[in-house]
Amino acid sequence: MKEFKRTLITTALPYANGPVHIGHLAGVYVPADIYARYLRLQGREVLMIGGSDEHGVPITIKAKAEGVTPQDIVDRYHNIIKESFAELGISFDIYSRTTSDIHARTASEFFRRLYDNGQFVEKTSMQLFDEKANQFLADRYVTGECPHCHAEGAYGDQCEKCGTSLNATDLINPRSAITGNTPVLRETKHWYLPLDRWQKALEEWILEGHKEWKPNVYGQCKSWLDLGLQPRAVSRDLDWGVPVPVEGADGKVLYVWFDAPIGYISNTIELLPDSWEKWWKDSDTRIINFIGKDNIVFHCIVFPAMLMAYGDNFQLPDNVPANEFLNLEGDKISTSRNWAIWLHEYLRDFPGKQDVLRYVLTANAPESQDNDFTWRNFQARNNSELVAILGNFVNRAMVLTFKYFNGIVPQAGALDDVDNAALAELRQSVEKLSEALDTFHFREALKEAMNIARIGNRYLQETEPWKVAKTDPERVKTILNIAIAICANIAIAFEPFLPFMSEKLRNMLALGNLSWHDLGKADIVAPGTQLNEPQLLFEKIEDDAIQAQLDRLAAIKEQNRLKAWQPEPQAAPVDFDTFLKLDIRVGKVLECQAVPKADKLLRFLIDDGMGTRTIVSGIAKYYKPEDLVGKQVCFIANFPPRKLKGVESQGMILSAENPDGSLTVISPADTLTPGSKIC
Ligand code: 2FM
Ligand code: ZN
Repeated sequence: MKEFKRTLITTALPYANGPVHIGHLAGVYVPADIYARYLRLQGREVLMIGGSDEHGVPITIKAKAEGVTPQDIVDRYHNIIKESFAELGISFDIYSRTTSDIHARTASEFFRRLYDNGQFVEKTSMQLFDEKANQFLADRYVTGECPHCHAEGAYGDQCEKCGTSLNATDLINPRSAITGNTPVLRETKHWYLPLDRWQKALEEWILEGHKEWKPNVYGQCKSWLDLGLQPRAVSRDLDWGVPVPVEGADGKVLYVWFDAPIGYISNTIELLPDSWEKWWKDSDTRIINFIGKDNIVFHCIVFPAMLMAYGDNFQLPDNVPANEFLNLEGDKISTSRNWAIWLHEYLRDFPGKQDVLRYVLTANAPESQDNDFTWRNFQARNNSELVAILGNFVNRAMVLTFKYFNGIVPQAGALDDVDNAALAELRQSVEKLSEALDTFHFREALKEAMNIARIGNRYLQETEPWKVAKTDPERVKTILNIAIAICANIAIAFEPFLPFMSEKLRNMLALGNLSWHDLGKADIVAPGTQLNEPQLLFEKIEDDAIQAQLDRLAAIKEQNRLKAWQPEPQAAPVDFDTFLKLDIRVGKVLECQAVPKADKLLRFLIDDGMGTRTIVSGIAKYYKPEDLVGKQVCFIANFPPRKLKGVESQGMILSAENPDGSLTVISPADTLTPGSKIC
C-alpha cells in the first residue's frame, strides 16, 4: 500500500432540518472519530472535516410548515448538532456550515469553472410545476408512486422504500408536497453534469483500482456503472441555495448535492485559508469519506466526476467506508416519525455517559448489514461489559496497588510463565486491534480492545495477588506491575473508542500524552510512579432509566399509530327497508355492574320506556360501572336475546370505536324520553 503523508477525513454533512440521531452516529460520526483519533495517536497528520448541510428541500419544507425562514431552521439545528457532537467528543478540526460566505464563494467558483470549461450540458426540459404554489417541484417537493417498487410516498429524488434514485418526472401520480395538487409539466432550463463522459475514468478508478473497498460500496458503484451513467441536473428552480452564477439563471440555485460535497472543500479553506490546497491537491494526501449507504453514489460517482471535471489535481477519495443503517427497536429510524434517539436528548438523559453510547454504537455498528439498537442491549452492554469487565479490572488493579503499595507502581521481578503468557496475549490483541482499525473494521477493533481488559481480569484471577500477599510479597510487586501495565494499554487502546474513560484513566495512571506506539509495552508507567486515587470508570444503569426510554418510545409509537389512523372504508350499501328492520331506541341506565368472571363485560339494567331490560356489553375495559348509571344510551332493541357468561342480554348498546381501539358509548346530545326511536 502506498504510504501517504497525511489523511483528510470527511464526514457526511448532516441536513440541518433536525438534530442528529443514533443512526447518524453509528453510520458516520463515531467510526470517523475513532479513525481520526487512532491516526492522531499514531502521530500522523490528520484533518477531520464536518459541517451542516443547510440547503435542500427538506429544510424549506420544514420552514414552510413552521412558518419561519429556512435560515431560522438551519440556525436552530446547526447549533444543536454542533454542540451535541462536541459533547459526544467527536473531534472535528472544523464543524462549519454550507450557508457560510466561504462556502457560497467556493461552490460558485467551482460551478463557474466547470461552466467556463464546457463541462456542463444545458438542457431545456419539462419539469413538474405546482400552479397553486407557483413553483417548480424538485426533489422532495413532490411525492408519488415509485416506478420501480410501486411504493406510495416515494420522493422526487429517491424512493426510500427500494432506495432507487429517481427524477421527479419518473413518479407515477405525482402530487405536490406543498399544496397536495397534481402538478403540470412546464418547460425550464438546467445545467447537467454529463456523467457519461466520466464513465470510463470512473470504471478504471473504482472497478479496477479499488477492489479493496467494502463489498457494499463496490457493489453499489458497480451496479451504477453497469447501468451506464447518465447526465445529472446540477441546478434547481428554488429560492434557497447557492445561486447559479451565470447569466440567465434567475430563480435557479445549485442542486444541494452539487454544493454539499464542495462543503468539505470550503470547510477546509475556512480552517486553513493558506494551506488548504495540500489537503486536496497533493497526491500524498489520502482522503477518506465516512458516509451512510444512501450517500454512496454521490461520493463515489458524482463528486469524483465533479472533481475530475474541475481538474487541478483534486484528489479522489482513497476509501469510502460507507455503513449500512441502524434500526431502533426493530423499526427503521425516521426523523419525520420521531422514531429515533436524538443525541442531544441522550446527552440530557444520560449525563456523563457519552462513552457508553459510543461503545454500544460501535459494538453494534451496521458495518456489513443493517443492525438494531435496543435499550435492553444498551443496558446489558454497559452493565455486563463496561462495568463488569473493563471497569472491574481497572478498579481491581488500582485498588490493590493502593492497598499493598500506597499507589506507587512496584518494580517487577523475574517474570514467570503466567506473566509472559499474559503479555504475549496482550501484544497479540494489540496487533489485531491495529489491523482492524487500518481496515475500518471498528466492531472487531473494539472487541480486541475489550479483550485486553479480559486478559487483565484473567491474569488477576490466575495470579490471585490478594492470596499471594500473605506468603510472597515480592511476587505481588510483579503481578501488580503487570496489572498496571495492562491498565496503561487500556488507556491507549480505548482512546479512539471511549475518549472520556481513557482521559480519566490516563489521569489515574499519571500518564503524559498517549501514543499508539506504546501499545503492547509493559513499561508505559514507570515503576515508582505515584498513581492517583482510583475512581470508578463506569456505573450500572438501572432498570428504571431504561424503562423511561422504552415508555417514551411506546408513546411515540402510539402517537404515530393515531396519526396514521384512517376511518374504515365504507361498507357495502344496504337498502332503506333493511335499515328500518333495526329497532334502535334510547334508554336510560338504571344499574350497571361488572359481570363476574368476565373482565370485558358489563351488565346494564335499562329503562327502555316500556319497562326495563338487561343488556350485556363488552365495554368493561373503558368504563367504571358507576360512571354509567344515569346516562342515556342508544341500543338495538330487536336482537333476539342471547346468553353471555350466563347472563341473558336483550339487545345491544351502541358504541363507537376510537383510533386507539377503545370504545365510547353513544349518548344522545339532548336528554330524550326513554323508548324514543332512532330513525
Ligand atoms: O444524506 C445527507 O444527510 C446529506 N446531507 C449528506 C451530504 S454529504 C456531503 F456531500 F455533504
Ligand atoms: Zn421504490
